[in-house]
Amino acid sequence: MQNIMENTGGKGLLYEKVAGRIGYMIEQGALRPGDRVPSIRNLSKQMQVSINTVKEAYSQLEDQQLIEARPQSGYYVRGRLPELPAEPVVDRPALNPSEVSLDKVYQLVMRDLLNPGLLQLGIAIPNTEQLPVEKLNRMLARETRRYATQAVSYDLPPGNLRLRQQVAQRLLLSGCTLSPEQIVTTSGCVEAVVLALRVLCQPGNAVAIETPVYFNFLQLIEELGLKALEIPASPRGGISLEALEYALTNNRGQVKACIVISNFNNPLGIRMSDAGKQQLVAMLETYQVPLIEDDIYGDLSYRDERPLVAKAYDTTGNVLLCSSFSKTLAPGYRVGWIAAGRYQEQIERVKMITSVATPSPTQLAIAEFLANGGYDHHLRSIRRVYARQTAQMADAIGRFFPEGTRVSRPQGGYVLWVEMPEEIDSLQLYEQARKIGISIAPGMIFSVEGKFRNCIRLNAACWDSCVEGAIETLGRQACDLLNS
Ligand SMILES: Cc1ncc(COP(=O)(O)O)c(C=O)c1O
Repeated sequence: MQNIMENTGGKGLLYEKVAGRIGYMIEQGALRPGDRVPSIRNLSKQMQVSINTVKEAYSQLEDQQLIEARPQSGYYVRGRLPELPAEPVVDRPALNPSEVSLDKVYQLVMRDLLNPGLLQLGIAIPNTEQLPVEKLNRMLARETRRYATQAVSYDLPPGNLRLRQQVAQRLLLSGCTLSPEQIVTTSGCVEAVVLALRVLCQPGNAVAIETPVYFNFLQLIEELGLKALEIPASPRGGISLEALEYALTNNRGQVKACIVISNFNNPLGIRMSDAGKQQLVAMLETYQVPLIEDDIYGDLSYRDERPLVAKAYDTTGNVLLCSSFSKTLAPGYRVGWIAAGRYQEQIERVKMITSVATPSPTQLAIAEFLANGGYDHHLRSIRRVYARQTAQMADAIGRFFPEGTRVSRPQGGYVLWVEMPEEIDSLQLYEQARKIGISIAPGMIFSVEGKFRNCIRLNAACWDSCVEGAIETLGRQACDLLNS
């Protein structure tokens, strides 16, 4: 075990390192389903850590549904979850960009968001019970008192300095050494992506996007009069670099930006490898196509450390890194940012023209939370909750959905991508589920070309008996559709 331990050593807390190492052995097949994992006492001796550290590590592995305790017997590797979704066909990506014309399914799903009567499994919102609501709101009140005049004034681009300092400090963990002057604050991550698209593209230009893709990006592309060039993404490695290169070669000069969610992407939950990120950055530099990197889920890794971003490999300023605190702290505060590389000045200009400034009070509050609110402690706790809940939901899907259903295995974040047998139409499932108060996201809204008809995306941010019941009902409805 010693070598494996050395290979996977991280910088996190000791128990997280121990958990990471056992997790690695399970992932690599050195420990297989049903195998007994070392006893707490043995592992503590072997790794020279305290009994409590091993207990804490095993409790984290239980949360991640990787091991289970059996009374009087010890800890065992859990049985397998359903298979991963199938690999996409990457040798034939779309040759030409497509006009984006989204039909009424999008509007239906968007309308669901406003309906409090529905159980919202279709949208990727965090669980407010997991957010530090009181602490954050207390800080908002305190900071707006402390900086009363600043709080009611414009915080013109690049935005609140203290917040940019905090973001710059945290970016070291993502592998980036940036100064606060290289960051512009925005109203959420979506505004950061919109600013980037506005600066980089003119109507009629093409944007390369991974598919399946977060559907709001498709709506943005349509709204800005752009075209989408879909590049297949795999549930194992993310965007296919082979297909991307093929598409860039065939559309030289036409593609003006590429959007990638590099860590725990929405909807597949996949984290690109560091080597993949490095290759992506180098390839886009060669083709002179700027990368818009969305890292909104990067802080929600189930491992002890957050992953690097692709921007860590950017030496020329060709990567525009976008993120926000919407998934970790408060979606309603609308605080995000962009580190726009060589496009910084243009981004500041367009931000000023289109929205003048990002709201001051919430920037002040988030800056204070990052400086003194225990952000890392908060992240550690929600990462564990989301790891446990996505595993519990995946397990329930395995129990209730028709045989042959496959489920993504996210390494962070809280959405699951479910691939049902091909005969099932997820739009029909969406309509039936809605009649009984459950909202899901049907697969075809994640592609311009209407692919993924047999897939759905589910939000696992909330998990209780009611959600488990909903998964059982959805599974029954899916079985009925299969047999009809
Ligand atoms: C990948 C991705 N980017 C951006 C957003 C939206 O971010 P914000 O609310 O900060 O604008 C979401 C929300 O679901 C998302 O999944």
